[in-house]
Amino acid sequence: MPSDDDRPWWQGAVVYQIYPRSFADADGDGVGDLEGIRSRLDHLSWLGVDAIWLSPFFRSPMADFGYDVSDYCDVDPLFGTLEDFDRLVADCHDRGIKVVIDWVPNHSSDQHPWFQDARSSRDAAHRDWYVWREPTPDGAPPNNWVAAFSEAEPAWTLDEATGQWYLHLFLPDQPDLNWDHPEVEAAMHDVLRFWLDRGVDGFRADVLHAIGKDPDLPDDAEELIPIPHSGLNHVPEVTLPRLRRIRELLDSYDGDRMVVGEVYLLDTALVAQYYDDGRGIHLSFNFPPLYAPWDAGVWRHRVDEVERLITPAGWPTWVLSNHDNIRHRSRYTSEERARAAVFLTVGLQGTPFLYAGEELGLEDAVVPPERVVDPGGRDGCRAPIPWTPAPDHGWGPEPWLPWPPHADAGRDAETLRADEGSILHLYRRLLAARRASPAMVAGGQRVLDDTPDGVLAWERTAGDDRRVVAVCFAAAPAELALAGDWVVEVTSTGAGEGEPFTGSLDPDSAVVLRPA
Ligand code: GLC
Repeated sequence: MPSDDDRPWWQGAVVYQIYPRSFADADGDGVGDLEGIRSRLDHLSWLGVDAIWLSPFFRSPMADFGYDVSDYCDVDPLFGTLEDFDRLVADCHDRGIKVVIDWVPNHSSDQHPWFQDARSSRDAAHRDWYVWREPTPDGAPPNNWVAAFSEAEPAWTLDEATGQWYLHLFLPDQPDLNWDHPEVEAAMHDVLRFWLDRGVDGFRADVLHAIGKDPDLPDDAEELIPIPHSGLNHVPEVTLPRLRRIRELLDSYDGDRMVVGEVYLLDTALVAQYYDDGRGIHLSFNFPPLYAPWDAGVWRHRVDEVERLITPAGWPTWVLSNHDNIRHRSRYTSEERARAAVFLTVGLQGTPFLYAGEELGLEDAVVPPERVVDPGGRDGCRAPIPWTPAPDHGWGPEPWLPWPPHADAGRDAETLRADEGSILHLYRRLLAARRASPAMVAGGQRVLDDTPDGVLAWERTAGDDRRVVAVCFAAAPAELALAGDWVVEVTSTGAGEGEPFTGSLDPDSAVVLRPA
């Protein structure tokens, strides 16, 4: 275990994801922006996060709300300017907050000048920057791959003008870049350099597994077709050399710049490969725990998998909510569970990724059909953050999506901050307790075996520093017997902090304990 001083920042950091459209709106047009984010940095410093990850704010026609990029090296006017971005980075750095941005290497927008040129003729300079195939004699698409966000639509669109199909794993407006072409790789490296030179501390690499497709683009096995990205649009042998070159580029900069991959493969063994024993990406998301039900046995299994598969390869990550999935407050159905669940992300060994609004206990918004805007059905988790009480919640007249439930009934940042018993204060206490404990930040981990049904507990250790974290998933109280005397440092219910641990755990609750 590296000492505090030589451990890279991204191993100890708590990272907070911001979806810029929904975070805070400085210009009052109903869509969040970079100045809005800058105006809310006090909230983040007070909360105690170490880094922010910004979802895309680049120029985009917004077919996929920014994940369709038409200029990788500029800020969309909806969000501000490059100068606004520089100011935001400078202010974050002044506060000791690192800045991670999204990098979307697998596909551009169909409005990107590269694709506009590519589709202009078969001989165009950028033609091979995308993936084109000849029509088949029977008129069927070139292979059986299916596009995301569709009811089994092909991942191919026939370009009538030039008579060939182009590949898009997502919308037809998001043509896949051809990573087999060295100029594409070089251009996407230039994008990394552009932002590294502007001072960003790292990147979240969008659908990173998709930049390593089998070059022959063979059909997927029938049974894999319904499972997104499970087939031959990811081949580790193709991907890994590309990841190594990305790693080398980042590591050539000072300051421990980092890439966290969105490796959207629901198999922890596959995710582990992307670390490539320190030569691949620095961190990777691992989504199976995000899809775990509120069940101690399933969670135990997920944690065991991470210890067995990821930890030998690299540093784990934990995430429960993001802009693509129903918030865990909604999935796990109660605030008690949401409060307990954050002890998993923040208490398990690895880098926690929090999603803006989870510290307010936000649920997904109910979006009526006439307000649905996302082709992937993810509007609910992207509802705007209510900063102040009704009526405007710190926004202009009407934000782009409806408010989350109970925003008018006190579920806003200002009201929760005035209430020391709120989930917001719990998050703050938990992050402070984590930061104060070397064991919690980066210590070793041992899952405890002799725990009652419905309880998952583990010990974290760094030198003399020890903590036990326990999560009770059960609907009834449970008794946790521990050797020695322990003091309750933080509880999800807020009751009994600073007092001796009696062994009793409330239903749907969690604790951090320190030796008495
Ligand atoms: C990733 C993003 C998602 C986006 C998709 C296509 O999964 O998280 O929001 O729609 O990639 O870029």
